[in-house]
Parts: sequence; C-alpha cells; structure tokens
Amino acid sequence: SNQLAVFGHPIAHSKSPRIHQAFGHQLGIDLRYQAIDVVDGNLAAAALRFQQMGGSGANVTLPFKQDAYKLCRSLSANATRTQVVNTLHWRGDHWFGDNTDGPGLVRDISERHRQDLRARRVLILGAGGAVQGILSALLDAGVDTITLANRSPAKADALCDLIGEPARVKSLYWQDLADAGHFDLVLNGTSAGVQGASLSLPFSLLTPRTLAYDLSYGPAATDFLAWAKAGQCWLAVDGLGMLVEQAALAFALWFGQTPDSEAVYQNLRTTP
Ligand code: ATR
Repeated sequence: SNQLAVFGHPIAHSKSPRIHQAFGHQLGIDLRYQAIDVVDGNLAAAALRFQQMGGSGANVTLPFKQDAYKLCRSLSANATRTQVVNTLHWRGDHWFGDNTDGPGLVRDISERHRQDLRARRVLILGAGGAVQGILSALLDAGVDTITLANRSPAKADALCDLIGEPARVKSLYWQDLADAGHFDLVLNGTSAGVQGASLSLPFSLLTPRTLAYDLSYGPAATDFLAWAKAGQCWLAVDGLGMLVEQAALAFALWFGQTPDSEAVYQNLRTTP
C-alpha cells in the first residue's frame, strides 16, 4: 500500500492521519498514513528512514517546514518563493517540495467562506513560519496589500524582504495597530493562542465587512475569534478549513486525484 506520513514535533494530536485516511477511503486508494514525531529534531534523517521503508509522500508541520525546504532538490514555484515546504513527494531519486498551506487558505476563504480576495487590504498578525508560508498565495490571489505586524519588528521586516514586493507587502509596528485603520481581512498567525496568551487588539481594525481568520483551530483560536466577534466583524473563522484544503491539495499532488474536502470538513466540525 502507499506509505505516507506527517512529520512534526509535537505531532500526537495531528488530524492529518484521519483526514488522509478519509480521502483514501473516498477514492478507493489504499494507503497507510502515520504521524512521525521527530523527537531529535533531525528531519533529514527521519525522512531518509521513512523513504527507505517505502515512504513516497509526506506532510511536514511545525517546526520543520524550513528544514523541509532545505531537504528538497526540486520545488514548486510557491515553495521556491516562500522558502517553506509542507508537502514532500518522492520523485524516484529526490524529494520534491510544495507548499499547499497558502493555496489551502485561499481556497478556504474564497470557496468555503465566499470572500473575494481581489483588491482586499489584508492585515497579518505574526511573522513566523506559519505566516511565511501563506504570503505568496495571498499575493497570487490578487489581494491589494498585506500589512505585517509582529511583536518583534525585525521578523516582519525580514519577511517583507523575502517577498520583495515593497509596494504590496509592508510591515507595521505592533504598537501602531490602533492607528492603522481597518482591514478587509485580519489574519491571526501568531502562536499566542497556542501558548494561552491574549493579544489585546484594538476593535478599530475591524468593520462589519471584515473577515477575521485564525490560522489555528480549536482552543488555540478561541481568544482571537472571541475578540473578532465582540468587534462585530462580518465573519470570524478558525483554520480548520485551511487544514482540510491544504491536505486535499497534498493528496492531489501524491495521487493525481482530488478528494471531496467538504465532506471531511463537515465530519471534523461535527466530530472534532
Ligand atoms: P509558527 O511557526 O507557528 O509561526 P513561530 O515561528 O514561533 O511559530 O512564530 C510565532 C509567532 O507568534 C511570532 O510572530 C511571534 O512573535 P515574535 O516574533 O515577536 O516572537 C508571535 N507571538 C507569539 N506569542 C505572541 C504574543 N503573546 N503576542 C504577540 N505575538 C506573539
């Protein structure tokens, strides 16, 4: 059978095995998908062992997406530009790397939540690996500008430099958020929620048309989404849809067939 895996640390609570088993079941594709905890931090060694055991495709999650990029001898355009990889595909003698996080986010926003991204003003909170992976796809989707606000401004500046479109991707000091006006899309890409910390954001970022989106899901997204709802935005959603869509795009890369992501999304919503 097809051998697949997700690499991360920690990885025990990953929903990826469940999602990909469901996709395989839908399409009658026999697969084994395991969660591999890279406890020693050595992704390259873990990926080599996996491949030698017959592994042909893998997802990579935190904190190894930059390491996965370095592992690949060929890359998609999106992975080349963002320099982070969340999907590996064995191509006979080397790993090919793709990044489906950004395209998955765009699909979730534009198709599931029906928000047109073209000409939108986007604010992104945070400038870590999770944010790095989505910038290129948002630009390709036609957003007007992306403003990056990070607690440590140097990291936001570094991401702006990486993308190299100064007219469209700019950084903003965190303490200037209250004077920044409002945005059509406010994305939380910080790990504050995971760490149980609160962001204390100004309501002036929101309008009744704003989509507020947290890249994380479950309890980690609760605080940000509560703030957004209290600020009376149009819609406040977590990143569960993005998780399912990035998985569907990875699955399509591995098998050349597109699964029904909506059925799996609904199942995860009703039975978390
Ligand atoms: P990930 O790979 O999930 O993006 P990361 O690279 O550690 O993880 O990045 C975490 C992001 O959340 C960073 O942008 C971090 O800000 P700093 O660069 O200033 O550390 C941000 N973050 C974490 N906790 C935060 C908090 N309490 N308030 C604001 N930003 C926070």
